[in-house]
Amino acid sequence: MTDNQVAQGILYIGADDKDLDLFEGQYAIPEGISYNSYVILDEKIAIMDTIDARKTNEWLDNLQTALNGRQPDYLVVSHMEPDHSANIRRIMEMYPDVTVVCTALAQKLIVRFFGETPASNQMLAVTDGDTLSLGEHTLQFFTAPMVHWPEVMMTYEQKEQILFSADAFGKFGALSYDDPEGWACEARRYYFNIVGKYGAQVQAVLKKLSGLSISKICPLHGPILDDNLGYYLQTYNTWSSYEPEDAGIFIAYCSLHGNTEEAALKLASILKSDSDVKVATADLRRDDLHEAVEDAFRYDRVVLAAPTYDGGVMPVMEDFIAHLRAKNYQNRHVGIIENGSWAPVAGKVMREAMESLKNITIVEPIVTVESTVKPATVEALKELATALLNISH
Ligand code: FEO
Repeated sequence: MTDNQVAQGILYIGADDKDLDLFEGQYAIPEGISYNSYVILDEKIAIMDTIDARKTNEWLDNLQTALNGRQPDYLVVSHMEPDHSANIRRIMEMYPDVTVVCTALAQKLIVRFFGETPASNQMLAVTDGDTLSLGEHTLQFFTAPMVHWPEVMMTYEQKEQILFSADAFGKFGALSYDDPEGWACEARRYYFNIVGKYGAQVQAVLKKLSGLSISKICPLHGPILDDNLGYYLQTYNTWSSYEPEDAGIFIAYCSLHGNTEEAALKLASILKSDSDVKVATADLRRDDLHEAVEDAFRYDRVVLAAPTYDGGVMPVMEDFIAHLRAKNYQNRHVGIIENGSWAPVAGKVMREAMESLKNITIVEPIVTVESTVKPATVEALKELATALLNISH
């Protein structure tokens, strides 16, 4: 097998992007990202998605090398987000006989993105269970609406039992980056921030795929997954059902002058000294917001600590809660620490915001820091720590 060979007749032709600072204009990717694309060489040839415009030249070089002078017959479009679709029109112009295979909604989006496409190219709309024979390889299509856009579909190649999974099972990080944290850490940040809102739709797709025998998963970002696939499928099942992945307590805090931070870190140290529970913290003012969202989903208990500000809560906490709401946050126990010098209301604001989400249980007592941490505050933090540790799972 060559380096880029995924299976017999199936080649990887994607590219790493290590210079982009923000993916989708918002997610920090210090270790880059890969835009994956594949070619299936058979009696007929299928290109499995294009890639982001930033890496067009590298991708076209890889494509030409893989084609080795042959002409592609099909371009399979899994997803119309520009990190995968940017070169659709270019392929249609380069290969007037290429048939574009995608869902009916993707066809509409192709026109929205590219205007009228060359008349010479045919469009083949497919839906659940449809198959397309390339010769020895047969593609079978499964719609995957909202994983992560409505037009998405996955493709199962029957001979090699490979699932081309679109964004699902993808992660941040270039392929050339050997992630010491393995797949889960950056796959989790990717999942909850990009797909997190659509757990029910992910569950529906997992159910749809459950009868397939899968030997490899080829996502549109990150490494090809080819061993222990049950682990990845089970992890996606946990994430998409909004169940916590780990027992532990995540403390997300912000602070104006250090007093709320002191209380939050004091709670962390009480928890650690009283138990061997996993405790993670994030300073919402400085740490990566999207990692904080990821950790809020990862653990079964969360504590929010913030001062009162302008008759509400410090804006960075408001923003964090808005992110949780947007991602359908639910099914967790939440502790609250507030601070206020003359009219503390942050606790009430945070409580109401969190109680408006599904199946959120507020853990009593809500701790009020009156300006600074004093012995009475520490006693209240100890009570909160005990209550958090008494929650059984
Ligand atoms: Fe990788 Fe939803 O695009």
